[in-house]
Amino acid sequence: MRNVIFIAPFPLSATLTFCKALSRVPGVRLLGLFQEPPREDVGFAHVERIPDALDPAWIRRGVEALSARFGPIHRLLGVLENAQEQIAQVREELGIDGMRVATAQVFRDKARMKDALRAAGLPCARHMLAHSDADVHAFIAQVGLPVVVKPPAGAGCRATYRVTDAASLKQCLAESRPSPQRPALVEEFLQGEEHSFETLTLGGQVRFYSITRYLPTPLEVMENPWIQWCVLAPRDIADARYDAVRKLGQDVVAALGLQTGITHMEWFRRPDGSLAVGEIAARPPGARIMNLMGQVYDRDLFLDWARLMVDDRVDGYFERRYAAATVFLRQPGGNRVLDVQGLDQAQKAMGHLVVDKHLPQPGAPRADGYEGEGWVMLRHPDTEVVMEGVRRLFQTVKVRYA
Ligand SMILES: Nc1ncnc2c1ncn2[C@@H]1O[C@H](COP(=O)(O)OP(=O)(O)OP(=O)(O)O)[C@@H](O)[C@H]1O
Ligand SMILES: [Mg+2]
Repeated sequence: MRNVIFIAPFPLSATLTFCKALSRVPGVRLLGLFQEPPREDVGFAHVERIPDALDPAWIRRGVEALSARFGPIHRLLGVLENAQEQIAQVREELGIDGMRVATAQVFRDKARMKDALRAAGLPCARHMLAHSDADVHAFIAQVGLPVVVKPPAGAGCRATYRVTDAASLKQCLAESRPSPQRPALVEEFLQGEEHSFETLTLGGQVRFYSITRYLPTPLEVMENPWIQWCVLAPRDIADARYDAVRKLGQDVVAALGLQTGITHMEWFRRPDGSLAVGEIAARPPGARIMNLMGQVYDRDLFLDWARLMVDDRVDGYFERRYAAATVFLRQPGGNRVLDVQGLDQAQKAMGHLVVDKHLPQPGAPRADGYEGEGWVMLRHPDTEVVMEGVRRLFQTVKVRYA
């Protein structure tokens, strides 16, 4: 039996899917470290409670307690972006295999990431880590408007501003207030289409990759409450259109020094066709992209992740058999979901394409992110059919709020 520890603060359902997958890998005894242990059975042999699952000292104490009881630890894993450095630190301290602190840092800190990418000659937005308003002004004088101002290690598009003119600059500085203690990342604004690029990487080599398209960009979704967001996985990603990003994806993983793990990169295709990296994370993608890939390849990508993390293996043949899309349902309005309109019409128009859904629940509080309160997944062998389904869904299904 190999002892595999999975760590997370809270038992969110998206998080528990990863636990279930780990527990299905043969020869694994799954152990948990949680602030709030899961109530349902997701395959843990034992769960240890710790007061702070993001504090390396507590993580270490938890790991030591589990190891005292169950024996040597084979892997220490977690999927949250803001836990990766702490987990890596404890791995290093206790000599457990897996991603190291230096690697975790370069993936987490967007300024370091861009320094490393540029040093390797890979395209990304010009940036500056601003310690004051004056730094921001100086950067804008150099690259011009628009720029993006955001936290150096942000997530979920929080506190991310597009600065287009003097007024938006003033407002952004008032809110982000860059200082030496709390620097802000300022970036040249990348124009164009935004996509993602996921990999399963083994021994520094990309062994599996997948691509999605964001419609529209997460920033535009956050700026406009009436926009519904969609992540589309086109069926065919082997054609020449994607040659450059295949190479870029491998080069980025190599430049940042990841040996083994899953990655989620965001990249832009500019109007002139050139590519630029937005950012990359060494953890599974969010926004249901794991589930979306599962639909496209007709296989359990969570299990593929688990096998990679536990056994250093990528098995089998990944055939892209479908195109698929997740439409996130959201609208402007009040603070609670009242109902969802247009479902019957949508069912008639594209019900045959729907493979999974979670409808916004009446009474549910309004979500503040681009993922809204619910989602619908569509799938079909033909990408155009999925796209048409997405358009119809956008037009017919509306969430109302009270
Ligand atoms: N330099 C840039 N040019 C254009 N758009 C940008 C730039 N930086 C960020 N954005 C937009 O803001 C979004 C959020 O930025 P970023 O991905 O860096 O932050 P994040 O908080 O980690 O987001 P998430 O967790 O949603 O991936 C991006 O998906 C993109 O739409
Ligand atoms: Mg991002």
